Amino acid sequence: MTRAVAQFAAILATALFIFSLHWMNDPKTARHGVVAGVSGMLVAVLATWFQPEIVHHGWIVLAIVAGFIVGVPLSRVPLTAVPQRTALSHAFGGLAAGLVGTAEYYLWVGKGPELLTPFRMSAIVAEVILGFLTFTGSLMAAGKLQEVRWIPQRPVTYPGQNFVNIGILGVAVVLGVLVVLQPTAVWSGRAFSGIVGLAVLFGVLLIIPIGGADMPTVISILNSYAGLSAVAMGFVLDNKLLVTAGALDGSSGLILSIIMCRAMNRSFMNVLFGAFGQVQAATAVGEQKEWKQETIEGAAQLLEQASLVVIIPGYGMAVAQAQHKVRELYDQLTKRGIAVKFAIHPVAGRMPGHMNVLLAEANIPYTALVEMDEINPEMPQCDVALVIGANDVVNPAARYAKHTPIYGMPIIDADKAKTVLAIKRSKNPGFAGIDNELYVQDNTWMLFGDAKAVLGDLVKQFGSGGLH
Ligand code: TAP
Repeated sequence: MTRAVAQFAAILATALFIFSLHWMNDPKTARHGVVAGVSGMLVAVLATWFQPEIVHHGWIVLAIVAGFIVGVPLSRVPLTAVPQRTALSHAFGGLAAGLVGTAEYYLWVGKGPELLTPFRMSAIVAEVILGFLTFTGSLMAAGKLQEVRWIPQRPVTYPGQNFVNIGILGVAVVLGVLVVLQPTAVWSGRAFSGIVGLAVLFGVLLIIPIGGADMPTVISILNSYAGLSAVAMGFVLDNKLLVTAGALDGSSGLILSIIMCRAMNRSFMNVLFGAFGQVQAATAVGEQKEWKQETIEGAAQLLEQASLVVIIPGYGMAVAQAQHKVRELYDQLTKRGIAVKFAIHPVAGRMPGHMNVLLAEANIPYTALVEMDEINPEMPQCDVALVIGANDVVNPAARYAKHTPIYGMPIIDADKAKTVLAIKRSKNPGFAGIDNELYVQDNTWMLFGDAKAVLGDLVKQFGSGGLH
């Protein structure tokens, strides 16, 4: 294959990656986005395979087989485990970049030190630092989300922690500068190993003070680091496709983390250094109000008499895997001429688009899904707001309680509906660990229990003669 064809393949793959990202913007075209992304990657691998400098094809076959062995089981994880699965992918990406950078350094030192120009050496150092910190950072993030026993979920903090962390990164960067200046000096090999060790350590220490709750945002930031290390790798290997694909990866990860931070009204600094999710004193919500419970029959009657029902799903719907029961309830209500809309909060659940994906899985029409900004003006006209395992995203404290971690986060105005029905298992708080006055509001009625079971009972009530 000539170089021209390889270059054409790189342009084609880059175009496919860009289309892939663009199509991911809308649920209607998201499937095309997946096909475009996979095709782009296939073109990239094939183009690499046929490059004249690739002579050891056997090793590539081995790598592809290993990739399949790890990748196929990873693709079968449940949706609630996708954030940690994604973190594992970033860990592998970071490890690959770190190992390639290390191999290139030692190979070039041995074979042709003149090739280690300051530019190439700088790219190698950036690739190795970013690659290895992404590797251990992503492994830690995946472990926290998976609730691995020996990794604490809560932020672990100690005095001077940020100083220690920044110090470690600073030493790695200083060593990096020295190696760039004198890549072939006797001490450079050892300094290079030091950079690798410090980057590995920094990845672990970076994640320790961050709570499990912030992991999806951190994973997105690590995604961006993995992309940047791929860009550096592209410069090292003189591979334009790696540069463009890495830049797309890096920038999309960054944009996603900014979107998540905005939706939670947090800053990057607060996510990385804020130790969000630390055990904090319980916050009293004024006078202690009563929790009122409703029966399934009563709830079904309220729903049946409504003209507009707004369903607000949250993390609990994902935990209960209640989306199919939600669909059955949706069918029962729409069959009776009741307008049903789904209010989608940008950070409901534990990953971006979590609710959209679950509801799509249950074949709920996209047109019934309404973004927060659009549904909120309609909430005062809503007869019943049915909150299914959502908590922080409907907590009115976000509007005024300055001392809470959710202060300033835009919420879905469930409290403005005429009646609120809320499904959850207990009186425990949500992710941010604070009480929610919505549940004790005068017009709120609780349906305690697992969301799938409660919705199942509601659907039965509609179907089996309780209501017609
Ligand atoms: P949460 O505040 O986490 O509340 C979920 C509620 O679901 C809990 O109150 C829980 O109460 C209930 N629940 C759990 N399992 C249940 C089950 N099987 N059946 C019924 N209810 C169940 O959820 P949310 O309102 O979706 O808010 C998301 C939170 O995650 C926000 O604080 C957000 O900032 C944070 N976050 C989101 C993201 C993204 S990108 N989505 C990223 C990082 C952080 P019980 O235990 O009493 O049942």
